[in-house]
Amino acid sequence: LRSVITIDGPSASGKGTVAALVARELGFHYLDSGALYRLAALYALREGVSWEDENQVARLAAQLPAAFHDDKVWLDGHDVSAAIRAEDIGMGASRIAALPSVRAALLERQRAYQQTPGLVADGRDMGSVVFPRAELKVFLTASAEERAARRYKQLIAKGESANLLQIQQDICDRDARDAARSVAPLRQEPDARLLDTSALTIDQAVNQVLQWFRE
Ligand code: C5P
Repeated sequence: LRSVITIDGPSASGKGTVAALVARELGFHYLDSGALYRLAALYALREGVSWEDENQVARLAAQLPAAFHDDKVWLDGHDVSAAIRAEDIGMGASRIAALPSVRAALLERQRAYQQTPGLVADGRDMGSVVFPRAELKVFLTASAEERAARRYKQLIAKGESANLLQIQQDICDRDARDAARSVAPLRQEPDARLLDTSALTIDQAVNQVLQWFRE
């Protein structure tokens, strides 16, 4: 039996953290689909391919030399775990994610994560496009202010400089682009459960997902 739990939602909502913990709790595999879009954006940048060039970016995405192991993300044998988290790469990921052939190029790679005993997948279109028959679909969100505040704290904790208003603006821009695109726009599926984590701890959010799954 290969169960699938999808967790979709806007940027910086905490879905990655929650999805990884739910996967660990259940002993399931974990797919961070946003990392694939970030890797494709970074790969294009490093190969000198413009984020606007749909055919070339799709070609790179189809042959992405990416791997996930030892808690790190690898591109062509290099540890790019930190590099793919940069704000400009997040913005680049959101740009190339609006290109239909780039999404198509990454589709089968994502589906291949559906392995025994199960999978927790997080992203924007996990429940709508990639795993439409998932057993449990969650739409995880939080207020824009709360999401910006969380991202701000993360950056400060890493010793990086951060500007709260700029972060909030970037998050809003990215959400607007993700929701407005014609392919796989960010939205709550009719059969997805809404989990607003604005006032929840990580543990509370994880437990809610586990409880829904076990119902
Ligand atoms: O989730 P994360 O912030 O890492 O995703 C980066 C970008 O990749 C998002 O802003 C979104 O445009 C895109 N993405 C997507 N579909 C997914 C996951 C991410 O379009 N399933």
